[in-house]
Amino acid sequence: MLMLVRGARLYAGDGRVAPGLVDVEVAEGGHVARVVPYDDQREPASTGRLIEAHGDLLSPPFVEPHIHLDTALTVGEPRPNASGTLWEGIARWSERKRTLTREDVIGRATEVLRWQAANGVLHVRTHCDVTDERLVALDALAEVRDRVRDVMTLQIVAFPQEGIVSFPGGERLLTEAVARGADVVGAIPHFEDTREDGVASLRTAFELAERHGLRVDAHCDEIDDEQSRFVEVLATLALRSGLRDRATASHTTAMGSYNGAYSYKLQRLLARSGINLVANPFANLGLQGRFDGYPKRRGLTQVKEMLAAGVNVAFGHDDVMDPWNPLGTADPLQTALVGLYAAQLTGAEEIPTAYSMITDRAAAVLGIGEEYGLRPGCPADFVLLPAGSPAEAVRRQVRPRYVVSRGRVVAETPAAPTRLAWPGEAPVDVDFTRP
Ligand code: FE2
Repeated sequence: MLMLVRGARLYAGDGRVAPGLVDVEVAEGGHVARVVPYDDQREPASTGRLIEAHGDLLSPPFVEPHIHLDTALTVGEPRPNASGTLWEGIARWSERKRTLTREDVIGRATEVLRWQAANGVLHVRTHCDVTDERLVALDALAEVRDRVRDVMTLQIVAFPQEGIVSFPGGERLLTEAVARGADVVGAIPHFEDTREDGVASLRTAFELAERHGLRVDAHCDEIDDEQSRFVEVLATLALRSGLRDRATASHTTAMGSYNGAYSYKLQRLLARSGINLVANPFANLGLQGRFDGYPKRRGLTQVKEMLAAGVNVAFGHDDVMDPWNPLGTADPLQTALVGLYAAQLTGAEEIPTAYSMITDRAAAVLGIGEEYGLRPGCPADFVLLPAGSPAEAVRRQVRPRYVVSRGRVVAETPAAPTRLAWPGEAPVDVDFTRP
């Protein structure tokens, strides 16, 4: 036995916690051997490591379904996004893109992956701008994917930031990116010059994905224009091609401006299509509504309504210190907290749902559900959180005590309570738990 985690509360998926405490045994090969009821006398084999959970929450690792590792940590380069809009962000990035080098991309992407591992993220889908004749970032991220393979899984989306149809050579570059090893085909239909170009770009992305057996993840309707309706095209292509849950529409912020009648139609179509949605609250709360007076729209997709319709919705961090978001530590618990307020998922049943949107719902976006979880035979990938429930982990914004990948501890954060000297009382440790 490689490791024994004793006395843990087990996250069972979909926001739920399994009853009672369990012990989890990790086999030498780095997979889960057994999950059995808690026994305080149980011991690991002589060479195995014992982790006492003390009733803390043991969860499969966090999953980041949407980040941009190629643009991360470039905020202010070569100059800041003064207007704060998505459009100026694209213009600033277009300038920065010309100066990319292999070492530059590898250095920044690796640093953010370290932050993610420390935060308990072991599965990542990154978008990578491929509207670049040199495809520097794509090749660099493919190298990074190989380097971190033993610890994290990294999916790379060939993301045509400046368009497939409207950008000169866009389709050729997208095809070349797939040939060079992209895992997922992207698109950006609302950014194309015309409605027809947008539809054509989605057709191209789906054809390419089908031809190579890949998934699709498009930046879709990331605009405050109620006339931007490419998600219906994406869902229909997913349905008719059979790609279904292998297709994802990211952002879909225009949905926040759709009328009730159209929204109703869309809920039915999206549920039938099986596609996933990824909402990115950090970037879109910051970027959208910038052309509005008051009332000012907040630029989020219909999270609550689509969940109720049976659509899989996940939360993504999106940008980390780049032209679209000046802040961020790549921590999914922050994403969940901001996302649940933005989408008003504040009901007692809804807060655990927000947790599922950074774990099992995000894993479904990546298509790794079969290997994801703490079932016998699954890779021993997990986080032990100093919290008794998913809701408490979100509320207290805890950092994992342990992050374990394939049975090996890759990150460890000792408890660091705050010592409070309250007048008239002996000093106490404060950790924001409810008495
Ligand atoms: Fe994005």
